[in-house]
Amino acid sequence: MLKLPGLIDPHVHLREPGATHKEDFDSGTSAALAGGFTTVLAMPNTNPPIFDEATLNLALDAAKQKARCDYGQFVGAGPNNADGIAALAPRAAGLKMYLDSTFGELRLDNMILWMPHFANWPKSAALVVHAESRTLAAAILFAEIYDRPIHIAHVSLKEEILVIKAAKERGIKVTCEVAPHHLFLTDSPLPAGEGPGVRAKSGRSEVRPRLATQADVDSLWANLNVIDCFATDHAPHTLAEKDFENPPPGFPGLETALPLLLTAVHERRLTLDDLIKKMHTNPKRIFNLPDQPETWVEVDEDATYEIRAAEQFTRCGWTPFEGWQVHGRVRKVVLRGQVAFEDGKVLAEKGLGRNVRG
Ligand code: DOR
Ligand code: ZN
Repeated sequence: MLKLPGLIDPHVHLREPGATHKEDFDSGTSAALAGGFTTVLAMPNTNPPIFDEATLNLALDAAKQKARCDYGQFVGAGPNNADGIAALAPRAAGLKMYLDSTFGELRLDNMILWMPHFANWPKSAALVVHAESRTLAAAILFAEIYDRPIHIAHVSLKEEILVIKAAKERGIKVTCEVAPHHLFLTDSPLPAGEGPGVRAKSGRSEVRPRLATQADVDSLWANLNVIDCFATDHAPHTLAEKDFENPPPGFPGLETALPLLLTAVHERRLTLDDLIKKMHTNPKRIFNLPDQPETWVEVDEDATYEIRAAEQFTRCGWTPFEGWQVHGRVRKVVLRGQVAFEDGKVLAEKGLGRNVRG
């Protein structure tokens, strides 16, 4: 039996408020515990988005009632909230900035809109950017101009990881995360009916950032030392939504991240020390998270099993890794001395979870 610290997922979409048929703080934190996570940091692109005091209270009230593991809530940078939002920093997991043009109300279409957020958000608080390709290079330039740390979400491309590597070598305060689906899936998945993986050209393969080429995936593995965190970007949408017209982008990931990465440890593509660094030590430091005393995860290292959506706690009902053989199963999760998960059952009550900024 392998004992791990309580894992931290700094990037999840729990859909509350606004889309609780996909997920809420109850189902999402149940999925987290089943996946070995004892802390999740929730993104603000909900409905309404979390972008002022009233909406932050909405999310935190729901979380307080329902969360079964610890949580933090990001606030979102919008085109009009740069004056007030910084005052919420002590209560937020961090500030999330959507710098690319794919995201609704929180989208920051031009760099003039970035400026007041970079100027006002406290340097001691986390600032996370969704910034792909050249936008990512611009965000790194902003970190340098404003002399403040930034954290780059879901890096997926070779050009991105190489630019981050160069920026780090130059001493720019940049950290980054990679999602398991960008490490284990490419943009040419097996055709329908040919075994596991997401189907090519199906709504189920839609995700942002998109799945990338084998060369991109290889470069992420070759530059593991540049990656600070693994973060799931758990973005549940129901099967009915994924298999209909205009499928929304996003994959669930809370219950598959650890088994996939433990399988990589088993195959010696990753060390256990590195896994713990990227799923506990580094996110704890980057997001300034409190200690969780008497908290750990027990894993049966030798258990092999097939991933099955039917066994998951997420409300979305599917996984892009259906049928994958993995090595390493979460047996038990203890949170502050209480057994929160054991042998497939969530034992934590709603409300056991605490706000990391409480
Ligand atoms: O695929 C994605 N889905 N990427 C994002 O950045 C947002 C997310 C969502 O909220 O569904
Ligand atoms: Zn996301």
